[in-house]
Amino acid sequence: MPMFPDAWMAELLSRNDIVSVVSEYVRLSAKGRRMWGCCPFHHEKTPSFSVTGDKQLYYCFGCHAGGSVVQFVMEMEKLQYTEAIKFLAQRVGMELPNDVDDEKLKNERAKKERLYAACKEAARFYHECLLSNMGKEAKEYLAKRGLDAKTVKRFGLGYAPDSWDSLLLHLKEKGFTENEIKDAGLALSGKKEGSCYDTYRNRVIFPIIAPNSRVLGFGARIMGKGEPKYLNTGDTLIFNKRNNLYAINMQKGKQINDILIVEGYMDVISLYKHGVENAVASLGTALTQQQARLIKRYTNKVYICYDGDAAGQNAMLRGLDILAKEELKVRVVVIPGGLDPDEYVRKNGKDAFESLKDKALTLPAYKLLCIERACDLNTDEDREEYAKKACAYVSTIEPVEKERCISQIARKSGLSRETIMSQCGATKSSKKEETFVKRGNRREKKDDESVQRRLKAERMMVAYMSLSKDNAMYVMEKMAQEDVQFENEAFTEYADALLMEYSEKDVIDEARLLSTQSASVAEAVLPALQLSDELSDSSRDIIEDCMKTMQADAIRARILEIMNGADAQMPDFAERLMEAEKLKKQLSRLLES
Ligand code: GTP
Ligand code: MN
Repeated sequence: MPMFPDAWMAELLSRNDIVSVVSEYVRLSAKGRRMWGCCPFHHEKTPSFSVTGDKQLYYCFGCHAGGSVVQFVMEMEKLQYTEAIKFLAQRVGMELPNDVDDEKLKNERAKKERLYAACKEAARFYHECLLSNMGKEAKEYLAKRGLDAKTVKRFGLGYAPDSWDSLLLHLKEKGFTENEIKDAGLALSGKKEGSCYDTYRNRVIFPIIAPNSRVLGFGARIMGKGEPKYLNTGDTLIFNKRNNLYAINMQKGKQINDILIVEGYMDVISLYKHGVENAVASLGTALTQQQARLIKRYTNKVYICYDGDAAGQNAMLRGLDILAKEELKVRVVVIPGGLDPDEYVRKNGKDAFESLKDKALTLPAYKLLCIERACDLNTDEDREEYAKKACAYVSTIEPVEKERCISQIARKSGLSRETIMSQCGATKSSKKEETFVKRGNRREKKDDESVQRRLKAERMMVAYMSLSKDNAMYVMEKMAQEDVQFENEAFTEYADALLMEYSEKDVIDEARLLSTQSASVAEAVLPALQLSDELSDSSRDIIEDCMKTMQADAIRARILEIMNGADAQMPDFAERLMEAEKLKKQLSRLLES
């Protein structure tokens, strides 16, 4: 993240008063120390979105969006950090601080600009080639795949000529150096010293474009059979496939209900051509947390629709967990007949695809389907096996969802509902089972409670740290002494930033500090800062309690880990039992103290 000089940022923030910026988007009215309005980031009828003028922060008590004016603009205008800063500077007519930037950053930025420019020029070149005579075969190929000229243009598709140096020559002519071209991933070094050749040759080109319309990299498909089918830009200074999604740029500035995640370039384009315009592709990798967060900037509702083959289904299972972890509402679109979304929509059209979406499965339903597919339900033995596996999974999920799954398992396995219920730990039939269920539920609830308690403790600590330098030092020392860490990485990151800040000054500006943090850190920290009203400098016993909660939690987690056999270092059961006993004693000593 580029750094802007402190004084300049302070000026920028003071001129962009958060109340006046937010008021351009949200109608606010004053109530107490805060201004209130309906949250622009989620749908609501009663205002739970608040802005505090004195702290220069916003926070939604409904969806927990929050931050400084910078995060607000990032969210609202779908901008990257630097773009948001530029936006705010422009809003109040401030010049960007070019000359104050540190030399290294400046060079890096200049270099990136060159790579963006090279990729943009390359995309233009490839597109021209496609439209020219050279692109005849490629045009035919795309037509054969059902794409018309309009769609080709919309996605900026291109053709890399069947030559070793046509792009190299073109870019050199435009003033790019060989190193720049290589660094953008557009050319490769040859075996002979100093030689260099085009990365993509005789392939159809799919430019990968960021929401700010910059070309970051390319996918290149062979026409017809051959290996590798696709070549993709590797990591460069401006592109990393883990942080990007193909076609996310198409979603900018649209009101969208949901996003559809598919595997391939052609899936996205083909769906678009048939009127399904909200697909993005995960660029052939398992979905990453960064990608999930990118999606979250647009919507919290996602459909995931991967190929029907085993690889696709496995990738989907992994992706689902990542999406769920980012608290996105996920549904799985299952395509019949092992087709991929491209093939399906070409064959059956938009409406058929939309109705698959309507029938999309929830996460538990999809996991059950996977278990079912792995068994064949033709013999009693297999059906029993299926029931056992399915129930083992269902016993881990929420009671409300459990209910729905139970009937399904009963139906598929031919076993009675009662049997399935007791196998899933969801029955009331016998006394013994009743206590089991009760205990099970209580345990579940307690887990949830302890997660909440830990989160609250960590938030409290962060809030306390942000009150004064002394507090921050106190908490950090205490944590080091007791060897506890924040479970939430964002808190660790923010605590480090706080300490950095305090190392230079005694009083800090929360809004300014927060405005230099990533969106995910700001998002995690904001609810914490709301707690500072409950604290004063002398709240050290609260902090002691929080610390204890964190320690106890760490010990409990360790016990669970050991007893679940999750620690490969400790394969011996007796040894695990002993270790767990030791920890339990430690835990009760802690709780008594
Ligand atoms: P089409 O055959 O053009 O319809 O492609 P597809 O999207 O159906 O291909 P597939 O399902 O095989 O792959 C999905 C995605 O994985 C592609 O869009 C690529 O991003 C990536 N991919 C596929 N094949 C390769 C390959 O050979 N190398 C690399 N690096 N990526 C690939
Ligand atoms: Mn395909």
